[in-house]
Amino acid sequence: MSATGEDYDTPILPGDAPSDYERYIRTDELLALQKGPEEWVHRDELLFQVVHQSSELWLKLATSDVEEATRLLEEGDVEEAARQLRRPLRCLRYATDQLDMLEELSPWEYQEIRKVLGHGSGFDSPGWRTLRVALPRLGQAFHARRRKEGLSLVDLYVGRRDNDALFRVAESMIEADEWCQAWRVRHYRVVARVIGDGVVGTQGTPVEVLGRLVQTVFFPDLWEVRNELTARSKAEA
Ligand code: HEM
Repeated sequence: MSATGEDYDTPILPGDAPSDYERYIRTDELLALQKGPEEWVHRDELLFQVVHQSSELWLKLATSDVEEATRLLEEGDVEEAARQLRRPLRCLRYATDQLDMLEELSPWEYQEIRKVLGHGSGFDSPGWRTLRVALPRLGQAFHARRRKEGLSLVDLYVGRRDNDALFRVAESMIEADEWCQAWRVRHYRVVARVIGDGVVGTQGTPVEVLGRLVQTVFFPDLWEVRNELTARSKAEA
């Protein structure tokens, strides 16, 4: 019982867990999602599952916020869309940063874990799959809004102060592209370090293909407009 007479120790939310924290966060379910020691072929399975599962959660949040920003753009609430789009960038940063942890795996001992992955491969990651759908839709909503305002991309960049919110949306989009590329570079390097860069993955893809995927972007027009701006500036000089 607290000084105010309120009983903080007794949970008030529905559920069976002993505290409201555990009930709300659903820690029983969450912490049961990793294999236990009795199932491990190697204790680093915990590290491997934690990195993958938390990546899926950050990418889930990223997708949800990209979808919300898309909806806001479609509704014409560009200022709120610009605000909403900051969060997926952080999610992508966290997903990228935590790849470092995989470099703590011993390449030889990881081979034991690899044997129990079946055909499991990041190609089937729901987080990346949904984000790969959500980002192009965001691009469509952005260009539709830009056209509605009667702006070319060059207009938007040259006159950014007149269309500040839409400009910030564009800059967050290109930053998302950069983070996806940063993730791919890190992922490729981690894969090369753990299993090598001259082998084939659990779904038959040669690791060197991952190196080439690094070039992929979701918003090529936003990259191209930089070239146009440089050419325009040169022409005006
Ligand atoms: C030791 C850790 C890892 C290894 C050895 C590894 C290995 C690979 C390999 C070899 C591929 C090529 C496809 C195939 O399997 O044939 C691949 C693809 C992929 N992996 Fe991983 N991976 C690791 C960690 C992760 C993590 C933490 C994620 C996060 C979700 C992830 C997501 C992906 C994705 C999305 C692809 C598709 C290619 C792309 O979009 O760039 N991987 N991985």
